Amino acid sequence: MALLLDVRHLTVEFPIQNQMARPFSPLETSVGTADSPMEVRRGTGILDSASRIEEPSRITSPPSVAAVRGLSFSIAPGEVLGLVGESGSGKSVTSLAIIRLLPPQARISGEILFTNGKRSACNLLQIPEEEMRHLRGSGIAMIFQEPMTALNPVMRVGDQIAEAILAHDNSKDIRKREAWQRAIEAMNDVAISDPERRARDYPHQLSGGMRQRVMIATAIANRPQLLIADEPTTALDVTIQAQILELLAELREKFGLAMLFISHDLAVISQVADRVAVMYAGSLVELGAKHDIFNSPAHPYTRGLLKAVPTLKTNRARPLETIEGTVPSLQVIPPGCSFEPRCDFRVPACATALPPLVEVAPGHWARCPVVNPLK
Ligand SMILES: Nc1ncnc2c1ncn2[C@@H]1O[C@H](COP(=O)(O)OP(=O)(O)OP(=O)(O)O)[C@@H](O)[C@H]1O
Ligand code: SF4
Ligand SMILES: [Mg+2]
Repeated sequence: MALLLDVRHLTVEFPIQNQMARPFSPLETSVGTADSPMEVRRGTGILDSASRIEEPSRITSPPSVAAVRGLSFSIAPGEVLGLVGESGSGKSVTSLAIIRLLPPQARISGEILFTNGKRSACNLLQIPEEEMRHLRGSGIAMIFQEPMTALNPVMRVGDQIAEAILAHDNSKDIRKREAWQRAIEAMNDVAISDPERRARDYPHQLSGGMRQRVMIATAIANRPQLLIADEPTTALDVTIQAQILELLAELREKFGLAMLFISHDLAVISQVADRVAVMYAGSLVELGAKHDIFNSPAHPYTRGLLKAVPTLKTNRARPLETIEGTVPSLQVIPPGCSFEPRCDFRVPACATALPPLVEVAPGHWARCPVVNPLK
């Protein structure tokens, strides 16, 4: 079956001197590669208006740090890929690169191939902004961890969903009234009771779980094929978290939705994902079917992560296992295996060159030739 999303050798770098200079605004987007000039476009956020100023600018190559390094993975139609890793491992940067909402200073290289409907795959890093804008919502949509920061506090939630429908629907003559009607249908799809009345509420009138449902309604309103969910349940208490996971499973079933589901919570990933990708310090260290990752992890980092999760069998008399040390700062990533300073299995060669990904079983890859010797 053709792939829906095929990310190849994705690298995202940030210039060091600009790193803290200016906070990222979602109203700014950028596309560029290490080899080509970067276009800087202002006012092209998800819900932008017609007015737009484009300012092409040339970027020389200042010293930079790589937040994502040579990352490759794919998602088939209807599949859920779980992306896990500690804080700072590059999960959000990866998702923002896919939906092309990284700040203008980011330098991006590689390919992000997306197959929209029956059309052949296009490289999201190269299509014009206008095309990308239509794709956001109708092809790929995103939900974030904290809905309160993504929703407009002074706008009724129904209007916000309708605005997303109007901004991304390709059919020319969709009217406000129709968009409002579709917003109510989307609220119904995410099981918000009495959606006609709730659509008139402002975000502060809704609970956290309800606000996340509104975000999901906004995301699915234009029937995307791929939903990127960046820690969608982390800000919610466990009961509401379970409800949102159940809702996402239902929507997946109903609309054949594929998902890139980002979380640092392995328990959540084990519930939703078909396959799992593990990131460490910007690189992919392990990729495989959920069953393989959870039952026979092949990378020492994944093994450490799994040991750190308490289960019913965990001996409560002993302290929980942890991985000694911390994720290296982007400015001092070790030249060889980035996990080497924390790894109990390291050999001298680990410190000199980036280890290759080894296929330990069909479809199961791990970046550790020491624990998984090349045959
Ligand atoms: N705009 C930016 N400029 C410079 N560095 C950035 C920028 N955005 C992210 N980074 C850096 O890139 C690295 C990866 O960040 P990212 O947000 O992708 O991590 P994450 O895996 O999503 O972590 P978390 O679990 O905390 O959300 C971090 O070191 C972060 O500081
Ligand atoms: S390559 Fe070496 S340092 Fe890296 S995980 Fe494997 S054994 Fe550990
Ligand atoms: Mg993140």
